[in-house]
Amino acid sequence: MYDWLNALPKAELHLHLEGSLEPELLFALAERNKIALPWQDVDSLRSAYAFNNLQEFLDLYYQGANVLRTEQDFYDLTWAYLLKCKEQNVIHVEPFFDPQTHTDRGIAFEVVLRGIKQALRDGQSKLGISHGLILSFLRHLSEEAAFATLAEAMPFRDDFIAVGLDSSELGHPPSKFQRVFAKARSEGLLAVAHAGEEGPPEYIWQALDLLKVQRIDHGVRAIEDERLMQRIIDEQIPLTVCPLSNTKLCVFDDMAQHNILDMLERGVKVTVNSDDPAYFGGYVGENFAALYDSLKMSKEQALRLAQNSLDARLA
Ligand code: HPA
Ligand code: ZN
Repeated sequence: MYDWLNALPKAELHLHLEGSLEPELLFALAERNKIALPWQDVDSLRSAYAFNNLQEFLDLYYQGANVLRTEQDFYDLTWAYLLKCKEQNVIHVEPFFDPQTHTDRGIAFEVVLRGIKQALRDGQSKLGISHGLILSFLRHLSEEAAFATLAEAMPFRDDFIAVGLDSSELGHPPSKFQRVFAKARSEGLLAVAHAGEEGPPEYIWQALDLLKVQRIDHGVRAIEDERLMQRIIDEQIPLTVCPLSNTKLCVFDDMAQHNILDMLERGVKVTVNSDDPAYFGGYVGENFAALYDSLKMSKEQALRLAQNSLDARLA
């Protein structure tokens, strides 16, 4: 079954490039850039990857991103991710990057973008992996800061397909970013947003009605609102679900409690994704394997999940 799952052609639609920074590469980049780290070695860093909620993870994720400094660093990060995709027959990717995580540390927007885009182009030409890049705003920062980031991005408009919304969900509802999403859409960009990971179903309604998103990232709390469930089934709104992430961040107590297959059986267009694979225990392949191990996912269900990911592409 594992080999069969691995060989299934699939797309990954919910992946933070900064979250694919493996401890080994993090240490190598720290050495290359002469940055002192608070961890002794790779093992002690890995043992810090135990989280009770989203914020505990984010604190470490932003700290890890600090080793990314040069265009080559962003290239190496993205290329390492694409090599993993190749191993697992992920044939199309729509990754997020968080420009503010870098520009707020004094790294130029173009440095970040050039490194990522060059690796994605090489992924297309050398590995046969197609892509669409998503610029994600940090929701714990202001809408004004998001506007400034969008303005910085506009000279490179054709390098993106969409804007997204990530970081600390609770207390930062989609409504906070209604105007900047409207501006992005007026530039012809598509939209996605994290909603209903830790936040309530109301945030999913807002993402749909106020931000006019094409997909919901996570969205697992939709199941608490029957009217919302009907809408996402009727309109076939894709949810980019991340099973290992949800268990590592205690959205579900354990994988056996996860609702992804219940949603699938109810007709929701759910997809399987890794979110931050370096931090949560695996890539798309490991996420599929976990659904087989803990939820007895059948081959027929896996086929539908993989097909959903290909159908829910924006690029
Ligand atoms: N949720 C919100 N923000 C994030 C995540 C996530 O799972 N991963 C990286 N940034
Ligand atoms: Zn995410």
